[in-house]
Amino acid sequence: MSVKIGNIDLGEFPLLLAPMEDVSDPPFRYVCKQGGADMMYTEFISSEGLIRSAAKSKAKLDIFEYERPIGIQIFGSDIESMREATEIATLAGPDLMDINYGCPVKNVACRGAGSALLQDIDKMVKMTEAVVKATHLPVTVKTRLGWDDNTKNIEEVAERLQDIGIQALTIHGRTRAQLYKGEADWTLIREIKRNPRIKIPIFGNGDIDSPEKAANWRLEYGVDGMMIGRAAIGYPWIFREVKHFFQTGEHLAGPTLDERVEACRTHFIKSIEWKGPKVGVFEMRRHYANYFKGLPDFKPYRTQLVKEENIDTIYAILDEISDKYANISPINEMA
Ligand SMILES: Cc1cc2nc3c(=O)[nH]c(=O)nc-3n(C[C@H](O)[C@H](O)[C@H](O)COP(=O)(O)O)c2cc1C
Repeated sequence: MSVKIGNIDLGEFPLLLAPMEDVSDPPFRYVCKQGGADMMYTEFISSEGLIRSAAKSKAKLDIFEYERPIGIQIFGSDIESMREATEIATLAGPDLMDINYGCPVKNVACRGAGSALLQDIDKMVKMTEAVVKATHLPVTVKTRLGWDDNTKNIEEVAERLQDIGIQALTIHGRTRAQLYKGEADWTLIREIKRNPRIKIPIFGNGDIDSPEKAANWRLEYGVDGMMIGRAAIGYPWIFREVKHFFQTGEHLAGPTLDERVEACRTHFIKSIEWKGPKVGVFEMRRHYANYFKGLPDFKPYRTQLVKEENIDTIYAILDEISDKYANISPINEMA
């Protein structure tokens, strides 16, 4: 059965690209879309930043036609600011608005935003209601199981947010206290799915990093779709590999070396296009190693790539990588 959010038809069991700060920008989203992501989100955007028209926050509103369906994710601690930010973000023309109630990092959660709202469900409900009323777009929410082991209040959160009009909920199977440690536990996510009161799509998130895990957890936890974050960094093929495994029970061959170089080059080109040469070159540095994980003796190339400032030289290094490793059989990170 197709999963629907408002008028957006995501097909059966959609795979979503997770919002990731400093990662999920348009260049990264471009390669993930090519890799088969069914829906994507911007990285989270500060509501205060949007209201102040801070250039950094405004730039994060950039979305492109080929990215659809795409959601803009916002966060904040003040209800009025979130309402205003929703109006501003809606004008950027996304397909939906998403609220972040999951971010655990100190300078977000300790300022009353992100996962901090898990400690004040009444305020979370009011904030969400304000966002829902401020836009004609569907509103979705991304959150965690709860604040800590003693307050896993996701069931109350799911019911109350559904009641005030959110149209899908993504749950990361960790508490705020866990940060990114330990294994994600999807047991409570299954409970939410089994709750007969819950009608909206429930997406599971946390630790999906292989086609087998995706298939096993799909079966075990009965979610409507999955959101994938870290496993897509440097490996946008995760989406098509998971889908292929769902359809056939067999592994799609991993990307060839040429495909790796090509995806990295595309990411680089898009970075320069969108960020300009200086920032584009600089911010691409954090991605190179991820595209070439598992290649023997890659370190010298990495060292060159993360130092080089000249765009043509970077292209030349990528060509050299292509030549040097041409005879290496494809390495499938996900296998
Ligand atoms: C570098 C990084 C940045 C992140 N930034 C965001 C963010 O902006 N908004 C958000 O909702 N979650 C953010 N997250 C959390 C991810 O969306 C996701 O919930 C988490 O990584 C677990 O999924 P995974 O195991 O598939 O990576 C971030 C995670 C990482 C690793």
